[in-house]
Amino acid sequence: MKKALITGITGQDGSYLTELLLAKEYEIHGMVRRSSSFNTGRIDHLCFDSAIKDKRLFLHYGDLGDASAINRILQKVKPQEIYHLAAQSHVRVSFDIPEYTADVTGVGTMRILDAIRDVGLDTRFYQASSSEMYGLVQEVPQTEKTPFYPRSPYACAKVYAYWATVNYRESYGLHGSNGILFNHESPRRGENFVTRKITIALARILAGKQKKLALGNLDAKRDWGYAKDYVEAMWLMLQQPKGDDYVVATGETHSIREFLDEAFGAVGRDWKEFVTQDPRFLRPAEVDLLIGDPAKARRALGWQPRVTFKELVQIMVRADLQAEGLDPDRLMK
Ligand code: NAP
Ligand code: GDD
Repeated sequence: MKKALITGITGQDGSYLTELLLAKEYEIHGMVRRSSSFNTGRIDHLCFDSAIKDKRLFLHYGDLGDASAINRILQKVKPQEIYHLAAQSHVRVSFDIPEYTADVTGVGTMRILDAIRDVGLDTRFYQASSSEMYGLVQEVPQTEKTPFYPRSPYACAKVYAYWATVNYRESYGLHGSNGILFNHESPRRGENFVTRKITIALARILAGKQKKLALGNLDAKRDWGYAKDYVEAMWLMLQQPKGDDYVVATGETHSIREFLDEAFGAVGRDWKEFVTQDPRFLRPAEVDLLIGDPAKARRALGWQPRVTFKELVQIMVRADLQAEGLDPDRLMK
């Protein structure tokens, strides 16, 4: 049985990756940070399954700011694969807490890489790199060769972590891979990212609990895919003979307005009646356009996205309507 360690197991991607690896018969260890309220909601369905928890799924307290705890976990678990997903992952928030973001999202990756070296682990390492690194894009579409131009403290931290991974691959022969993932969403997406903010608000509006939805820049364009498809690419990267870097994207881009059109259109409503603009949700520097070219991932990993933009919006709207106790079959066209 293969053993994997997942940092960020309580996040959107961590939860889907855990399900994928459990289906592949892995033993999974997850690093969880201490919180005053429960933060395992996305994996509770696995934690409460007695056939899985403490048999093939084990959780360990740890924090990206705490090198000694990271070392201890690696020493104890000795995983064959490490999926490093944990991060302060919110771009807008990174402008408010830049130093913390640099420490956790940037140096936190270095702490893991160096712990691998200290413990002398022969492990494969996945770094959750991001399309945000392209920032003010230097080329359209973006490929593995497109230069980075980060536009936020978050993106600067991710560029540092990207190069740290490349450096450990070149310096110490680490099997390290960067997945340069473009935005990927799901019903488990954090509630303050734009897609989920929209689908939750839509459901609450239909339930009569909310009247307006305040958003920031509606003109930005993103290459949005489905998180469940994207965790497969992570796994595929670590099954290759050597570490490498891959863009994971759909190759399509849509604006926030188009997402609103699809989401509100799915229930026959016009978003313009509900959406207001609030400067609090604008960013000091914006990333206007992201669109990835996933040709290398398709060629080398045999990976391709399954869920289309329209299907993704429908999946998210349906899930949030259900969560509000509404009947999607009645409400969705
Ligand atoms: P997410 O839902 O925000 O999950 C982040 C995870 O990191 C959570 O488990 C969180 O724990 C954990 N974490 C945060 N700070 C930590 C700390 N100091 N120590 C230990 N754990 C900490 O993010 P995601 O959407 O799943 O994304 C996974 C990774 O991919 C992130 O690194 C993100 O930056 C990157 N990425 C995401 C996308 C995307 O579109 N989703 C695209 C490209 C790259 P809590 O649950 O306790 O908060
Ligand atoms: N969050 C948010 N809230 N974004 C808004 C809002 C709002 O009210 N209104 C407009 N937006 C715009 C943002 O300005 C941005 O252009 C776009 O919607 C997407 O914002 P987010 O959903 O917060 O995602 P992101 O693109 O900044 O970052 C996500 O994707 C990255 C990959 O490109 C995160 O998951 C990052 O962790 C990830 O690396």
